[in-house]
Amino acid sequence: MSDPIREDGLYPMRLQRFLARAGVASRRGSERLMTAGRVRVNGVVVSELGSKVDPACDVVTVDGVECRIEASPAHLMLYKPAGYLTTMSDPQGRPTVAELVPVSEYPGLYPVGRLDMDTTGLLLFTTDGNLGQALLHPSRHVTKHYVALVSGTPDGRDLQALRRGVMLEDGPAAPAKAELLEEGDPLFSLVAPHGAGRTGGGERNAVVGLSIHEGRKHQVKKMMQAVGHKVLRLHRDAFGPLCLSGLEEGSWRMLDSDETRALEALCERREHQ
Ligand code: URA
Repeated sequence: MSDPIREDGLYPMRLQRFLARAGVASRRGSERLMTAGRVRVNGVVVSELGSKVDPACDVVTVDGVECRIEASPAHLMLYKPAGYLTTMSDPQGRPTVAELVPVSEYPGLYPVGRLDMDTTGLLLFTTDGNLGQALLHPSRHVTKHYVALVSGTPDGRDLQALRRGVMLEDGPAAPAKAELLEEGDPLFSLVAPHGAGRTGGGERNAVVGLSIHEGRKHQVKKMMQAVGHKVLRLHRDAFGPLCLSGLEEGSWRMLDSDETRALEALCERREHQ
């Protein structure tokens, strides 16, 4: 089980890791300090290398000098492949996105929202529970862009219905931006390059681009079904200011400082509205 989300973003960790993060020494150097009996936790010498500390409440000293670490939240994006559940653990032992991201390096990492098991694309992870919750809050209207391979070809009326807001079983969907990207029997791989191909069958398929800001379960699939087109493949290529471009399927990268600032600004701006 992963740790519960803590507001300070700090989690119990091995003492040598704590010392390294506090800038005292490298991990190896920290281990040497510990075995030399120079490290105390709450006044007690700790030399056992597996020992853990909780940075939120334990006082760690080296040669009598207190060391601290600052909470610095981690944010990363994963290019989720099909076949993985969006959860950090699955009691049934199915593959989960936790296997694809560095959870031991960043304890407390969790996915912001979810993609269905068969959906590919951009999945944001953070250790910052406040930021994650803020980004999912309906009032923030964070836009998500999807590319969907659908059965048949939506006509102008279907697209207008999506733009006005189709009725779903749990109430009307908010108006979406909807456009037809390819007609006929397209190669989905041109738009969403990984995990795609021709779907075969007699019906001609089409590729639709959809921008929505709600996050209901199976929302895009239900919206397309409401206008008579089954989603055959679904890919998310943008989440708020973040774009997937350049990332290989199944791989992740840390957000850069511009992306982090853009996400934080998105949350702050809405707070003041
Ligand atoms: N809408 C869906 O139907 N599925 C997803 O995975 C994401 C949005």
